Order: sequence, then C-alpha cells, then structure tokens
Amino acid sequence: MLRWRETDVRIEPLTDPDQIDDVLAIEEASFTNPWSRDMYLAELENRGVSYCFLAHDATGHVVGFCSFWRVLDELHINNLAVKPESRRTGVATALLRHVLREGGSMGAQRATLEVRRSNDPARLLYERFGFSVAGVRRAYYTKPVEDALVLWREGLADG
Ligand SMILES: CC(C)(COP(=O)(O)OP(=O)(O)OC[C@H]1O[C@@H](n2cnc3c(N)ncnc32)[C@H](O)[C@@H]1OP(=O)(O)O)[C@@H](O)C(=O)NCCC(=O)NCCS
Repeated sequence: MLRWRETDVRIEPLTDPDQIDDVLAIEEASFTNPWSRDMYLAELENRGVSYCFLAHDATGHVVGFCSFWRVLDELHINNLAVKPESRRTGVATALLRHVLREGGSMGAQRATLEVRRSNDPARLLYERFGFSVAGVRRAYYTKPVEDALVLWREGLADG
C-alpha cells in the first residue's frame, strides 16, 4: 500500500503551446539532454497517443511535469521532472499517481520507463510505485554515457 504525503499541487494536461516554456525550464534544470520545444510541439500534435501533465503549486506556477504515450494497453513514460527547489515535497508522487490512474482509465494495463542506473532518487520513487527492473540497455544515455534500466509496472487498473 502506498502512502501519500499531502502536497498542494493541481495536476492538469498541457494543452497550449505557450505552456511549453515552463516544461523546458524544468527540462533544462533536470537533464543533460533536455527535450526541445520542437519535440514538445510534435508531442502536442500527436493526439490520442502523447500526453503531458503539469503540476501547478498553490500560486499557479508549474513545478513539475510528466509526459507519456499510451500505446494500446501500455503506458510509456517518457519524461518526469520536478523543479529543483520543489523536490522532495511529493510533486513527483502526485504526478505519477495521476498519470498511472489516467493511463489505467485509458485502458493501459502496464507501464514502462527507462532510468539511469545511477539515478537513485528516481529509482526509489519508481520502486515505491511498484516498478521493477526488467532489462538493461547498455550505454543508452549520453552526457555521461550510462546504462538505462528498463522498468515495468503491471496492473495499472488495480490502482
Ligand atoms: C526524481 C524526481 C522526479 C523526484 O521528484 P520529487 O517531487 O522530489 O519526488 P517526491 O517528493 O514525490 O518523492 C517521493 C519519494 O521518492 C524518493 N526520492 C525522491 N527524491 C529522492 C532523493 N533525492 N533521495 C532519495 N530518495 C528520493 C523517496 O522515496 C521519496 O519519498 P520520501 O520523500 O517520503 O522519502 C526529481 O528528483 C527530479 O526531477 N529529478 C531530475 C529528473 C529525473 O531524474 N527524472 C526521472 C527521469 S527517469
């Protein structure tokens, strides 16, 4: 059973290209290979498959996001990041909970994602959500080169 810390965030879908700036700022603060505006614009066009949810704090500022594809009965989580100064307050927990529920309600049965082997904060978070390591992609990441662990979580419909 997962325990949730209360956090005052509102989760809503990204629907307007103007909101991409907020996502890019968090991308750039979080990843060495951040996605570009064009990549997010292409995702916005890919309706019915690609989704991005934003977490807003009590003042309405975007403090995190999670993007994914729903492909048949699978949810592919592409990106999840939280503004550095808002980390460890339950934002990613709220986002993941929301995204897994959304995916389940769209008919996804299982979810997958990749994570750097050394990314302990993310690995601990995903472990809490019932993800487990199913494979390794050797030297998948660059800047720095590192293996990706492939994680899966079954039973989205079970909550
Ligand atoms: C990984 C990340 C999304 C977590 O976001 P967050 O909002 O800080 O996570 P939460 O506050 O919801 O934390 C939930 C749990 O995850 C684990 N966790 C999160 N950050 C952690 C850290 N720095 N150290 C250890 N455990 C951590 C803990 O189990 C935590 O629960 P606790 O605070 O009760 O101990 C955030 O650190 C981040 O944006 N990192 C950079 C981008 C990234 O690596 N994304 C994942 C790509 S696969």
